[in-house]
Amino acid sequence: MSNRDRNLLPIKRHSLPKYTVLREYLHLLEHYPFEGVRTYCLIDAFAGTGEVFRTWDRKVMNGSSLLMGEFAKKACNLPTKCISVEANFPRFDQLENVLSQYSPVSECLCGDCNSEVINIFKKLSDDDFAFVFFDPDGLGNPPLQYATVKRALAHKNVEILLNFQWRAGLLRVLSKKTPGVMATITNFIGTATWKGIMRKRLPPEQKMRQLLKLYLRDFEKRFSNIQSLEIPPNSKIPQYFLVFATDRAHVADEIKRAMDDVRVQFYRRKRAILT
Ligand SMILES: C[S@@+](CC[C@H](N)C(=O)[O-])C[C@H]1O[C@@H](n2cnc3c(N)ncnc32)[C@H](O)[C@@H]1O
Repeated sequence: MSNRDRNLLPIKRHSLPKYTVLREYLHLLEHYPFEGVRTYCLIDAFAGTGEVFRTWDRKVMNGSSLLMGEFAKKACNLPTKCISVEANFPRFDQLENVLSQYSPVSECLCGDCNSEVINIFKKLSDDDFAFVFFDPDGLGNPPLQYATVKRALAHKNVEILLNFQWRAGLLRVLSKKTPGVMATITNFIGTATWKGIMRKRLPPEQKMRQLLKLYLRDFEKRFSNIQSLEIPPNSKIPQYFLVFATDRAHVADEIKRAMDDVRVQFYRRKRAILT
């Protein structure tokens, strides 16, 4: 069966750092477990197909849900449950198939993460640790709502990795002035004050920075450490930002180091291609 038949999600080379950061995070979680909690719940809110298809060399590699499943298997001393949510039926079928090897620690839910994530958190107590990976394509389909992210932020022991899509996400829709699109943006950002930023006479990069800051307002109140990486690394107007939030300073430092390494590697690779 071809990769196209298997409905695998295609990824571009610039997305490799997303997996580097996720792998690094799972490695840290395994070696520096979150202290004082009963169970670990890893939530892949935009799960995809488990495996992804690399468009540049036509290879298949593990996507986010498989990486989390592997973590649960390796870190068997930590009571872990992985929950993967996927809204698209054919992708869900593929996901369920590929994750069956990690059953029962890995569970797949077919549906909109906006309702599923809220249901998952209803079942968690303060003694449970949750890691949530929000990795939408564009704003999501259905779009990610700020209320969903806020529910995750309200959990006592939580760490978050979030893909804040700029070029294929907010930037693509910001110029559309229909009431429906404007309501979608307001639900996505959780406030209508983005309209004030858009009215300002500012260079595009500054508008982007202000919108990102607005989006992260509750992250900044909730977490003591936030790290972000622009994708592609070193780009001024990126495809997306990968935002990591935690209260654990040593984990934030390690993630920052991983992000800095990625920037250096990308810089070196680009220079090698040009010379
Ligand atoms: C960028 S892909 C995820 C890639 C995956 N995280 C990985 O790295 O292997 C986004 C996925 O989220 C799914 N999706 C979009 N909106 C969703 C929603 N509201 N709830 C759940 N899944 C959604 C899409 O069908 C797509 O498969």
